[in-house]
Amino acid sequence: MKNKKIIIAGGSGFIGQALAERWGRDNHVVILGRQMVKAPNNGRDRRPSAANGYNITYWRWDGRHTEKHWANELEGCDMVINLAGRSVNCRYTDSNRQEIINSRIDATNAIGQAIREATVPPKLWINAASATIYRHAQDRPQDEYTGAISTDPDDFSVQVCKQWETAFDGQRTPFTRKIALRTAITLGDGAVMRRFVNLVKWGLGGPQGSGRQMFSWVHIEDVALAIEWCLEHAEMEGTYNLAAPGPVTNQNFMAILRQLTGHKRGIPTPVWLLKIGAMMIGTETELVLKSRWVLPTKLEESGFVFRYPRVESALRSLITKQEVY
Ligand SMILES: NC(=O)c1ccc[n+]([C@@H]2O[C@H](COP(=O)([O-])OP(=O)(O)OC[C@H]3O[C@@H](n4cnc5c(N)ncnc54)[C@H](OP(=O)(O)O)[C@@H]3O)[C@@H](O)[C@H]2O)c1
Repeated sequence: MKNKKIIIAGGSGFIGQALAERWGRDNHVVILGRQMVKAPNNGRDRRPSAANGYNITYWRWDGRHTEKHWANELEGCDMVINLAGRSVNCRYTDSNRQEIINSRIDATNAIGQAIREATVPPKLWINAASATIYRHAQDRPQDEYTGAISTDPDDFSVQVCKQWETAFDGQRTPFTRKIALRTAITLGDGAVMRRFVNLVKWGLGGPQGSGRQMFSWVHIEDVALAIEWCLEHAEMEGTYNLAAPGPVTNQNFMAILRQLTGHKRGIPTPVWLLKIGAMMIGTETELVLKSRWVLPTKLEESGFVFRYPRVESALRSLITKQEVY
């Protein structure tokens, strides 16, 4: 992809920075974040920025209000990608729950308003969404046509996904194509992979819980390729699952990770131990115990071919590049 102008809201995080690094030399990337980014001057900061040869502009926003300084950047741009949202990797306290929901809805509303106010609106708006929207599934895979979305009001993460998608669906942007990408757990140089790799290093790389729960995942490179595909294909619109076509069980995933990192054995982690561990590191067991079995039917129907359809090659690429090990 070359000579495009791309705005990435919430672009200071794991996925946003990977996209900025990929596109920031041949395109103009604008990142909206709540903190000012200092130009790296010590040679150790790996963040892509103008100071290390990228065509990247960072704008501060509050993630809630449409303000002129950043909204102007949307004028005539090729694509807006909204990734903003408080991380779900935390304890689900009342205040965290509220922030997880509000941050996603407010950011979506602010971008929608900016697009409606633009004289020359962006061609495409991609909003992050999550493959967690589907129910705990151990019987059959879930796709956009036959997948079941949990109606359980106590299933917090599903409620987040639903409210987030509803906020996005409700945005009327007649001159801007909209796509929601229900993204699976993304494997790359991010917190998720580091956590799995650390477990393996500490000898705890066995299955978690029963290990029979399904693990849908996607390689970070396929996230970028799929977004580029969406931009190139003007007929695409609506909701798409962004998960590799080769989901595995948790047990299988851990076994492949152990094998690739040269660890013969890994102690299984029973649910009670996971609960204690999750409390100690400030997260929720649902993130590893929910059975996520999601297929990218619509994306494949559109002709998209995953570079990393199988977990073994995906993990090998990350470990060989020493990005995560
Ligand atoms: N990574 C995955 O496996 C995965 C899978 C499915 C869906 N997703 C979704 O995709 C999006 C990007 O994922 P990621 O892994 O790149 O997440 P991330 O590293 O946590 O980055 C999200 C960004 O959102 C911004 N943010 C945080 N709290 C905010 C708030 N209260 N208001 C406005 N902005 C806030 C942050 O930017 P500033 O602090 O600079 O504002 C942060 O850089 C997230 O919404 C996530 O839920 C991720």
